[in-house]
Amino acid sequence: MQQTALWVGLVVAASALFFLPALRMRLELSRAKHPSLTGHARIARRVAALVPYYAYDEARFFSSDAAPAELADRRRAGFAGLAELYRRRFARGAALTAEAEGAISDLQFTSRYRVPFQYSRYVREHLKTGSFLQSSEGVMVTDLDGNRFYDLAGSYGVNLFGHDFYKACIAEGSARAADLGPVLGAYHSSVAYNVRRLREISGLDEVSFHMSGTEAVMQAVRLARFHTRRTHLVRFCGAYHGWWEGVQPGIGNPVTQRETYTLKDMDEDSLRVLRRRRDIACVLVNPLQALHPNANAPSDGSLVDSARGAHFDRTAYAAWLQRLREVCTERGIVLIFDEVFVGFRIAPRGAQEYFGVWADMVTYGKTLGGGLPVGVVCGRAGLMRRFREDRPADVCFARGTFNSHPYVMAAMQVFLERIETPAIRGLYDGLDELWDGRVRALNARLEEAGLPVRVANLSSIWTVCYTRPSRYNWMLQYYLRAEGLALSWVGTGRLIFSLDYSEADFAEVCDRFVAAARAMERDGWWWSDPALSNRAIKRGILREMIAQRF
Ligand SMILES: Cc1ncc(COP(=O)(O)O)c(C=O)c1O
Repeated sequence: MQQTALWVGLVVAASALFFLPALRMRLELSRAKHPSLTGHARIARRVAALVPYYAYDEARFFSSDAAPAELADRRRAGFAGLAELYRRRFARGAALTAEAEGAISDLQFTSRYRVPFQYSRYVREHLKTGSFLQSSEGVMVTDLDGNRFYDLAGSYGVNLFGHDFYKACIAEGSARAADLGPVLGAYHSSVAYNVRRLREISGLDEVSFHMSGTEAVMQAVRLARFHTRRTHLVRFCGAYHGWWEGVQPGIGNPVTQRETYTLKDMDEDSLRVLRRRRDIACVLVNPLQALHPNANAPSDGSLVDSARGAHFDRTAYAAWLQRLREVCTERGIVLIFDEVFVGFRIAPRGAQEYFGVWADMVTYGKTLGGGLPVGVVCGRAGLMRRFREDRPADVCFARGTFNSHPYVMAAMQVFLERIETPAIRGLYDGLDELWDGRVRALNARLEEAGLPVRVANLSSIWTVCYTRPSRYNWMLQYYLRAEGLALSWVGTGRLIFSLDYSEADFAEVCDRFVAAARAMERDGWWWSDPALSNRAIKRGILREMIAQRF
């Protein structure tokens, strides 16, 4: 009997010894996950699947925050005025949009998610916006009805130097590529120039060309797995890296991603995981997250309260990247900077130069194509090779019919040539001071006017934050549009300026921004019961959802 107990004890002790390290690693991994749903991809997907659809009727639309009747009427009148203005001003654009929308899946998606879903139906019925534009010039775009807007949408970040710059890149690039035409497989001579320049810019050895940022990221991760012979990629909570499976493990992807770890950004717990685990091939960093670590890209579609926050601390983020660099080097993990968005925008050599930290691989895209679609991977030679010298059948496959398209490559060459000119180089001098100063100036005006709105920025990339708990902040995008400011479908979550905004242009944008916010205040949307908090708003919405489901 005693002997059996001894054996059992021994077996338990041996198992504990055997399983303890695994258990500890599991616990460390749990600790390195951000407590929000954004940090728990699988749970987030399950929760998202439970959210029921419901839409507010007319009465609730104007008083979902239990505003008094007098206020709801003020909102109703303001909304009717705005709807009338939209009907008059955007008639042609709205008509063509209505005609096309039924057959354009992307448009159906974006127009549905411009504002929180409870309000979306009513907004779509009454505030009909056109999704078409006719022309662009300087920092302005013109719609089908001839309305001119200051462009704050920034073509998803592509438009860094102004529309005219890209028109010239495309025109000149097309002229250079015209003799060859769209011949694929063999290279246009611009490829050699681009490779040389991209090696200089990235400080890395080799380059591969792809058709989008998503594909570039996909290839960088695949190569990291191939060379490290490890399975997992690490991404940080909230970071966007395109819409490919592995980098989008949560909501939006119907398939569970088992080989992705989503860890807390700027957190010691995450470094501990990187130090300990042996299955991590690469760490993927989107430096734009420095503006809102651990939060998703801000979008008005999820702006249900005023909890959206943003603050950029360059020194703290640089220190974090430096620590990541050290751990990755120590552990043989491939450090990938995804500079598809910020590359070229924050410094001539991108985030690597800006933060003073150098990665093993860097992805670029967006603006680099000179206005045409592109994705690029730059990396150390040992990481970029797609085959093994000693195992000829073991390859890392990557192709793409339109890779290195002559017109794209030629436009890229023009882009890379032009960014060397003194005029463009000069734009980087005092860039942060300029944009930080502009943010301060606008915030001072908003504060002076007593408006509950502030802007935060990483250089020329801005996000709008709200200082008073409210369920209606998303309405601001419609007032901004009425003032001639064009935003992308994510609304006030992201304003992207091109660097050709002059002081006069900027002053005009500020005037219009303040005017829009004043109109919104006047119409009562920012009324708030003093007892209302962001938490109370969230709790109220949860109650609505539960009531709807049961
Ligand atoms: C950091 C980052 N990576 C990748 C992508 C995906 O690029 P694309 O839309 O060209 O596929 C984006 C797009 O916004 C991005 O911002």
